[in-house]
Amino acid sequence: MAVDILIGTQWGDEGKGKLIDVLTKDVDMVVRYQGGNNAGHTVEIGDERYVLHLVPSGIFRPEVKCVIGNGVVVDPVALDEEMAKLRERGVDTSNVELSDRAQLIFTYHRMADALNEQGAVRKIGTTGRGIGPAYTDKMRRCGIRAITLTKPDQLAEKFRAEAEKYNKLFRFYGAPEMDIEAELVKVLEAAEHLAKLVANSVYTINNAIRAGKKVLFEGAQGGLLDIDHGTYPFVTSSNTISGGACTGAGIPPQSVRDVWGVIKAYTTRVGEGPFPTELFDAMGEKLRQRGREFGATTGRPRRCGWFDAVASGYSCMVSGVNKLAVTKLDVLDDCDEVALCTGYEINGKVTTEFPAEASDLEIAKPVYEFLPGWKCDLSNVRKYDDLPDAAKKYLARLAELVHSEIAIISVGPRRDQTFLV
Ligand code: GDP
Ligand code: IMO
Ligand code: MG
Repeated sequence: MAVDILIGTQWGDEGKGKLIDVLTKDVDMVVRYQGGNNAGHTVEIGDERYVLHLVPSGIFRPEVKCVIGNGVVVDPVALDEEMAKLRERGVDTSNVELSDRAQLIFTYHRMADALNEQGAVRKIGTTGRGIGPAYTDKMRRCGIRAITLTKPDQLAEKFRAEAEKYNKLFRFYGAPEMDIEAELVKVLEAAEHLAKLVANSVYTINNAIRAGKKVLFEGAQGGLLDIDHGTYPFVTSSNTISGGACTGAGIPPQSVRDVWGVIKAYTTRVGEGPFPTELFDAMGEKLRQRGREFGATTGRPRRCGWFDAVASGYSCMVSGVNKLAVTKLDVLDDCDEVALCTGYEINGKVTTEFPAEASDLEIAKPVYEFLPGWKCDLSNVRKYDDLPDAAKKYLARLAELVHSEIAIISVGPRRDQTFLV
């Protein structure tokens, strides 16, 4: 039995898509278990670059079954389009399955997302994909689930009823209303295409586990965006930590073997919220340019800074990360020195614990440890022994600080720019 979970350990965009694609070489099934099309997972194969939002990153290996689990919030129109675009590029999408229990996102959720942001005293800087409102409807127990895609009459009835409620809300706030019938046409068309993908996926996944198949769970976002453990309220609306796989796919905790933590060799964040090691100087700009740090979903420039072992250490702890996949080490290639944040000074006191309050994080001054840079090109390195000593020391200290072990190193976006340790 080999059931592994792969998660992002920071504020997302750590390179999860690339790692999933690499790891699926030996996997039978890949399962998304939370988030929605707020995710943008990049996979580069040869000269081709794909950005996946809802389709699991195992899709490029035709023998791999790709399941969108019950914990995912799915915009049916967006999923239908994403799959059609993949097919246009010659990718076989016949192995995608959608859990009947997954909650659906509609245009009214996206409109509510925008309205919440407009009205907020402090914006979250969401991706605008309707994620928060869709999870809110799930918890309010008035969401519409993927099973309803197979029943067009019920879908139309439920959609109209929910959309009416939202339009009332929009009217109340003086915001434009949604054209319910025009949207319904798009939804029904997507439903017609997607209905055949809908299945009782909890059985698909558990049967595979019982049959001894290799199943890999693909986390979206990152531990520091988790609704409970992230920098609340500047978080997404799901449990992004490894535990989210149990609820978001319906698997028992004891079935899990390894938890892979994808960890960028520095830190980035998109959207608002505290970021203690953010750099506003030329070094921050250098990381952004060298790392091509622009959002895969929204194109927004990502905020960049040094590696934060306090924040990432907390995230690795709550997810039980026992295998680290360090990505983007090559981005640090021409730094004279590299820094790791080992503690925060908050109101004159130094702590190594990650605080719950965003306001504490906002005033936290990072305590840095500086190490010499390696000043050479790592993008062609293919084994650990060939890394320069300075890079090995940086990696060793990083792993020590987050109490985990490095299993994979990535030195470029392509599949081949990856090696085991
Ligand atoms: P995800 O959301 O975690 O899947 O990450 P994204 O795809 O949003 O962002 C990661 C970006 O870094 C993508 O453009 C990847 O192609 C790229 N990438 C992944 N690993 C590496 C690496 O080791 N080095 C470099 N330079 N780029 C990488
Ligand atoms: P992947 O899977 C980076 C951020 C948004 C915003 C906050 C809430 O590609 O790593 P939401 O739309 O989820 O309500 O936005 O979360 N965010 C991400 N940041 N990578 C992501 O996904 C993200 N998904 C959401 O920028 O700050
Ligand atoms: Mg991303």
